[in-house]
Amino acid sequence: MSKKSRQYLRFAISYRVEHLLLILSFGILAVTGLAHKFPTVSVSLWFMGVLGGVENVRIVHRVAAGTMMLESVYHLGVVGYRLFVRRSRLTMLPGLEDGRAALQAVLYNLGLSKSRPLEGRYTFAEKAEYWALIWGTVIMGITGFVLWNPIATARILPGEFIPAAKAAHGGEAVLAVLAIMVWHFYHVHVKMLNKSVFTGRLTEKEMAHEHPLELAEIVAGTAERRVDPQGVARRGRVFIPIYGVLAVAMVAALAYFLTFEETALATVSPMEEMEAYVPLTPTPFPTALPTSTPPPVESLSWAGGVASMFQGACGACHSSASPVGGLDVGSYEGVLAGINPPDPEAGTIVAVQVAGDHAGQFHGDELVMLRRWIEAGAPKE
Ligand code: HEC
Repeated sequence: MSKKSRQYLRFAISYRVEHLLLILSFGILAVTGLAHKFPTVSVSLWFMGVLGGVENVRIVHRVAAGTMMLESVYHLGVVGYRLFVRRSRLTMLPGLEDGRAALQAVLYNLGLSKSRPLEGRYTFAEKAEYWALIWGTVIMGITGFVLWNPIATARILPGEFIPAAKAAHGGEAVLAVLAIMVWHFYHVHVKMLNKSVFTGRLTEKEMAHEHPLELAEIVAGTAERRVDPQGVARRGRVFIPIYGVLAVAMVAALAYFLTFEETALATVSPMEEMEAYVPLTPTPFPTALPTSTPPPVESLSWAGGVASMFQGACGACHSSASPVGGLDVGSYEGVLAGINPPDPEAGTIVAVQVAGDHAGQFHGDELVMLRRWIEAGAPKE
């Protein structure tokens, strides 16, 4: 094998599987989640239409969320195995040298430093992204649970936590998508097309450029701690059953949390086609102008209010003692002479009052009462 074509294993198969699971779950979560966050944008509407409604978008989002959480359980197992069984070095832990590397990278990009930072197994950019992913998954997991189980949440926490979780979930989602599109895509697609997470390998040239310190360690034989196979086997026999029990417990807890509460997904019936035009129930037109609560028609009678109404408005000039113009409103018979029941418009009294400029006038309400009384046959009692 010539030196030029020499390849180095960068990602074993378990890393590549995890990355594929992340691409799938993260990608689906991002697309379905953003359609939720920006539901009025035309592309969101189009997308929701293609999936057959927001209910389906929600189901897909939750399946992807479950997948990502299962991947997290798997990742804990992989990290635990490397840590406790193989006793690998903690190459992903950030340190002071990463701060220095970041500073030098900025200075180099600005043209203020002549050389790029020399980095090891994981660059500062890769570490930042890994820990952002861990942090983001924790935040999205917790706030996602709150949104998934709002009733259970409100039983333990104040209700304000639910809108707060919604804001955090959406904000962190936008941040994560932008981080992938800006930070991740720049480092692995733009700066160099790094295919190692799919092929598992980097060439010597790429190693020398990206991970020179790791390459030096590989060449010197110090990159991996010396593994004693018997020790690995022994520790594996302890670790694997313990992790197995923990993983089953975590998956069971996950399944419990994701199913124990009926939420909007189940309780709100899905969108359906329906007639938008509903004919109005016919109602009769009002027979008179609205008035301020006139008494019911059946209780209207001369003795039951009409006499006192006439007395109050007309009595000063048309009393039994001095009936001006021959009209006596002090007696039932006297008023009867000026009306023609049951026609409310016939008779001089209504005619004079409708004309409106008489020396004494009934108010609107009183005129309505008078007409009703006449219509009812002008009952005396
Ligand atoms: C301030 C005094 C005054 C008051 C109050 C008054 N009127 Fe008269 N009314 C007159 C006078 C004066 C006449 C006669 C002169 C005329 O025909 O205009 C008259 C005439 C009438 C006539 C005409 C009689 C006819 O046979 O031609 C009617 C009907 C009448 N009033 C109804 C009423 C009614 C109903 C009320 C109460 C809402 C009322 N008036 C209150 C002074 C009054």
